[in-house]
Amino acid sequence: MRIILYLGKGGVGKTTVSASTATSIARRGQRVLIMSTDVAHSLADAFSVELSSTPLEVEKNLFAMEVNVLAEIRENWNELYSYFSSILMHDGANEIVAEELAIMPGMEEMISLRYIWKAAKSGDYDVVIVDAAPTGETMRLLGMPESYGWYSDKIGGWHSKAIGFAAPLLTKFMPKKNIFKLMPEVNEHMKELHAMLQDKSITTFRVVLNPENMVIKEALRVQTYLNLFGYKLDAAIVNKILPPSSADSYLQSLIDTQAKYLRIIENCFYPVPIFRAQLSTEEIINTDKLDNLSKQIFGDKNPAEVLYINDKTQVLAKVDGKYVLSLYLPNVEVKKLNVNIKGDELLVDINNFRKSIILPNVLIGRKTEGADFSEGNLSITFSS
Ligand SMILES: Nc1ncnc2c1ncn2[C@@H]1O[C@H](COP(=O)(O)OP(=O)(O)OP(=O)(O)O)[C@@H](O)[C@H]1O
Ligand SMILES: [Mg+2]
Repeated sequence: MRIILYLGKGGVGKTTVSASTATSIARRGQRVLIMSTDVAHSLADAFSVELSSTPLEVEKNLFAMEVNVLAEIRENWNELYSYFSSILMHDGANEIVAEELAIMPGMEEMISLRYIWKAAKSGDYDVVIVDAAPTGETMRLLGMPESYGWYSDKIGGWHSKAIGFAAPLLTKFMPKKNIFKLMPEVNEHMKELHAMLQDKSITTFRVVLNPENMVIKEALRVQTYLNLFGYKLDAAIVNKILPPSSADSYLQSLIDTQAKYLRIIENCFYPVPIFRAQLSTEEIINTDKLDNLSKQIFGDKNPAEVLYINDKTQVLAKVDGKYVLSLYLPNVEVKKLNVNIKGDELLVDINNFRKSIILPNVLIGRKTEGADFSEGNLSITFSS
């Protein structure tokens, strides 16, 4: 069983690349489920079919579904939802506002995660591919399994508090089946999913990006947070690459700019492998075109494989009360090393290549105290 999650900034090509990966794996004979957890779905457009939250077999071995989180909340979580909105209305919020607010923080993410858990546990698929929402939302989703225990405690807390001040009202709204009894069960599922997501032989994450400044920064943020959560990035897919050269001077200058950013991407993601896809002149929809795109990206490689694994790529640890960030840079001979912080970015200049890392929140505002390179590892110590 494999789980592959595609992440990246809005519009970079996550849906297209994940749909093409799924198609090519299915055509190699494995059973694949591709699911979109983004509220703004476009998976159905990529396959030119209608999709729902029940998997549809698009072609042999290829199943697709779109998780409709809001409908799910309305249907299956209705009890909990009306319970919270009743508390909020009691506090003076109007009905519509109360309904909106009653979608607890993390609830949408939790429902998406439950779908991933269900698909992975069902035994129906060899590979589950997740086409996720743009980075910000997905990072909350990925931090969720760990923080879920905290949420469920908090809900338990609200429950006992609410009973006190709103008892008469609550008897009217109180769910027939006690939803709070369900919480520990969901908690168990989240723990199981968390273990699956952290198991590098099961789950790998892939970032999709374009050769553009802001997109690269976002992709680096993805890398930082994946490392922080203990998840493995096994590939970076650079999409929408222009042809190598053009007679048109306007196009050529765009190509030159892309070439500059491609070099930056190579440095920044090293040693994670980079795959490339050209900007196509036609829309990449339907399985034949999607399969062709996958061939362009992965060549003869089976995209279901774990494409790269290294536990040391980027490790943040606390040593003697100080944060130490270690970067794995194999086959690099360090002659000149310079480390600088610019806002939330750590700029590491090694010889004449620059690697940039987006700092996690805990490191922002701290100064570097020293850097040390040995056995392919660069360790940077931050002030406490
Ligand atoms: N290599 C490519 N060549 C040409 N067009 C592409 C390529 N990759 C993606 N596109 C197009 O770019 C648009 C955005 O792609 P896609 O929907 O896959 O991105 P996304 O990252 O999933 O976006 P969102 O964040 O909105 O979900 C779509 O119209 C898609 O058809
Ligand atoms: Mg998309």
